[in-house]
Amino acid sequence: MPGLRHLVSIDDLSLAEISQLFEHARIFSENLRDSAETCRGLIAASIFYEPSTRTRLSFESAMLRLGGGVITAADMSVSSASKGESLADTVRVVSGAYADVLILRHPSEGAARLAAQYSEVPVINAGDGSHEHPTQTLCDLYTLWIEKGRLEGLDIVLSGDLRYSRTIHSFVYALARFGANLVCVPHQGLELPDYVVKRLREEYGAEPQAADASCLGDLASSSDAVYITPTKPHQLSLYTEAQRGLRLVDHVDAVYMTRPQTERFGEADSATGYIHLDTDIMSGEALREAVVMHPLPRRDEISPEFDADPRSIYFKQAARGVPIRMAILGMLLGRLDFTHSPRRHLEATYPVNAMGNPCPNMGCVSHTEVRQAPASYRIVSRFPVRAICAYCSRELNLTLVGAVGRPVAFRPDAAEARRIEPAELVFFRDLAEAASAGFTVGTGV
Ligand code: NCD
Repeated sequence: MPGLRHLVSIDDLSLAEISQLFEHARIFSENLRDSAETCRGLIAASIFYEPSTRTRLSFESAMLRLGGGVITAADMSVSSASKGESLADTVRVVSGAYADVLILRHPSEGAARLAAQYSEVPVINAGDGSHEHPTQTLCDLYTLWIEKGRLEGLDIVLSGDLRYSRTIHSFVYALARFGANLVCVPHQGLELPDYVVKRLREEYGAEPQAADASCLGDLASSSDAVYITPTKPHQLSLYTEAQRGLRLVDHVDAVYMTRPQTERFGEADSATGYIHLDTDIMSGEALREAVVMHPLPRRDEISPEFDADPRSIYFKQAARGVPIRMAILGMLLGRLDFTHSPRRHLEATYPVNAMGNPCPNMGCVSHTEVRQAPASYRIVSRFPVRAICAYCSRELNLTLVGAVGRPVAFRPDAAEARRIEPAELVFFRDLAEAASAGFTVGTGV
């Protein structure tokens, strides 16, 4: 539907829009009970295929405070999903007469993107697998903006499970766009995924750099994956401010801790000896002014005794979920003023012309909802040809590319590949696949 806005990725919003959301949230927070006309007569539907406390309840509270109504499928195992109904069909039904906005949580990566394709009303991504969680990110950014007065130039330590935490992924994209620096203190084996780092670098100009984290004391040494001495293996941090050489982390504005996302762990993953934050760890000089954030729920990664420390702001952060979600709902339902134009929308997507689905991520909705989510892609580079999955953003493995109606296949970095129009690309995973599709292989392959 033309003009329909969704919030599937934090990337769907311009920085100016995000700042305006903060302004609206701040006004709502002054009196949460004073906006009952904003969405009167409208209905939000929450459709949750995964457990939730804060996200669902704060969205529902936000809609009720705006004077709207709420319908809820909080446990999809007791809905028609258990009878085999596809996500697309559920979305078609609920987004018709039932509701004016859909709030969706789903275990498959890219599920909200798929839902947006089938919905007649705005879709809000309330978490899709380990991919993204944009409204948690807005809550987190809003919290930082209130606490620190700005986002640009902040030094943020990201700790715990950076691999599977969707809150981290949306958060780092936005922080990099706002010009904050990201110091990574992951649990061993749970580092930021390569595809996220690549995107931070190529799209948002955050440069991976070694950072000497010895000033973080026990926090850094409890992670086996940060740079303390040159001999240790480490994950690089990401800096948006150019500066050569080793960075010394001697002042931190915020520590963002996450729980091990054990429900998404593979066989090789382990959370033994998981990083644990307490008053002692937070006693270092570099951390003196650092607020401690957590999307919650927590397990043992922040000790309850630290709750009394004024730097612990995770419960305030959770409370701010209501005014920021009031602003998000008001925006997508066209009930609030936004003077800034939206971000230029992501580049066009194209259906994959290939024999199989080249998305390497088996948790992607293009693999889990095969009939309704036909593989599709966005081009991120014309030369060499590089493409990402339009649902889950993982880079496709392109061994050979060709053009529809011209049966010659080339390597993605061959000069001929540059001339193929994005919509005409055909992808092959290997020579045999190209041959069985009737393609000959061009010179130099
Ligand atoms: C997070 C989530 O669901 O990704 N929770 C939330 O929405 N506040 C974090 C988590 O489950 O660890």
